[in-house]
Amino acid sequence: MSDKTVLLTDSASNRTSTLPLVSGSMGEPAVDIGRLHKDLGYFTFDPGFVSTASTRSAITFIDGDKGILLYRGYPIEQLAKQSSFLEVTYLLINGELPNAKQFGAFEDEVTHHTMMHESLKNFLHGFHYDAHPMAMLCGSIASLSAFYHDTLDISDPEQRRLAAIRLIAKMPTIAAAAYRYSIGWPVRYPRNNLEYCTRFLHMMFEVPSEPLALNPVVAKALDLLFILHADHEQNASTSTVRLVGSTGANPYACVAAGIAALWGPAHGGANEAVLKMLAEIGDAKNVGVAVAKAKDKNSGFRLMGFGHRVYKNFDPRATIIRETCHQVLGALGVNDPLLDVALALEEVALKDPYFIERKLYPNVDFYSGLIYKALKIPTEMFTVMFAIARTAGWVAHWLEQHQDKDTKIGRPRQIYTGAVTRNYTSIAKR
Ligand code: ACO
Repeated sequence: MSDKTVLLTDSASNRTSTLPLVSGSMGEPAVDIGRLHKDLGYFTFDPGFVSTASTRSAITFIDGDKGILLYRGYPIEQLAKQSSFLEVTYLLINGELPNAKQFGAFEDEVTHHTMMHESLKNFLHGFHYDAHPMAMLCGSIASLSAFYHDTLDISDPEQRRLAAIRLIAKMPTIAAAAYRYSIGWPVRYPRNNLEYCTRFLHMMFEVPSEPLALNPVVAKALDLLFILHADHEQNASTSTVRLVGSTGANPYACVAAGIAALWGPAHGGANEAVLKMLAEIGDAKNVGVAVAKAKDKNSGFRLMGFGHRVYKNFDPRATIIRETCHQVLGALGVNDPLLDVALALEEVALKDPYFIERKLYPNVDFYSGLIYKALKIPTEMFTVMFAIARTAGWVAHWLEQHQDKDTKIGRPRQIYTGAVTRNYTSIAKR
């Protein structure tokens, strides 16, 4: 808490409220409005939490104007170049980079929790064959509450830690099983001699009849995408995990709620929506029409993969991923006409005053779908991939929330706009 304050005067009543400023280690301070209602009788109104910090957090820092993203203080550019997804996961959860011994123990633990309960296979078989894998993932992760609920005491830090490990370990297994069920393939069990991303790719693509020949470029690209998607402070899905977590709910239920929030096209569903949009545009020559449609408010159409609530300069993840997109497509010898459409769209939109004035730049998901496509990940699995990566952030935030003595149940207020008080009339008189 800083000693600076903000003085708020209610001109109607001439009453004042002196509100303290709250500062973190970096970034802009916030006004602590905790006493506003007591002093002046007002709540605040901020739909979409555009100006509201919901918590203190030491995990991720974003400066949207400067295009800065730090995990536990480390720039995303350095982590993308030098780290691995599992190491980043350790960092997000524990706050520090591991030494070799700590990393070995962590990797070992994650690796030995990769199996899913056999009954979960039956659970997946209850879905219709064409169910969306996000629906299956959300339902299956929520169902883990039933497998572990009775034995889980969330007031015990060790049990919380174990729940986090289980989620990180089992998410790829369940995601791959959901996909295989949807295409009628038998579930492939995790091979624990492989590292995290390679193991996942084997669970996705290996068939019982022949070994999988995997280009190492694919696992490396996946690892990078997972690093970039691992956390993004109080985004919609993480805030959902925290809101559900604030009630003391089981961590699997909290993460299932996060998966549901991630699915929407305004959030993690954007990577799937980008590819659909690029396919609909079809050819670079149609880009002008699409941009005109996105600018027309009556069309209800937005350029998917453009704009961000926080980044009003550029999305640093998009800069990294754009470069990777070219490298991966080149290394795999993929000549995707949709990349030409994407590049043409990017060029036209970035020069257009509508997008410049509103600070709408390509976000991470503008390119991630193109890479996933090149890696032969099916389109309906794109958001599932995001969910696997974001599990690292979700569990880190859930753990942090349970260590924070200031955590309270999340309970926003509202401005009521319904009917004013009136008397009930019997049905005969209506
Ligand atoms: N295409 C066209 N116009 C847009 C777009 C877009 N993609 N995004 C925003 N705008 C316009 C809005 O119409 C609005 O215009 P106005 O001021 O004339 O009314 C202005 O830009 C501001 O838009 P808001 O919706 O107020 O911005 P907000 O910060 O609430 O939304 C969001 C951010 C949801 C990401 C939005 O830009 C969007 O819908 N983008 C497309 C979906 C997408 O790519 N989502 C992925 C986000 S990244 C992630 O989750 C990993």
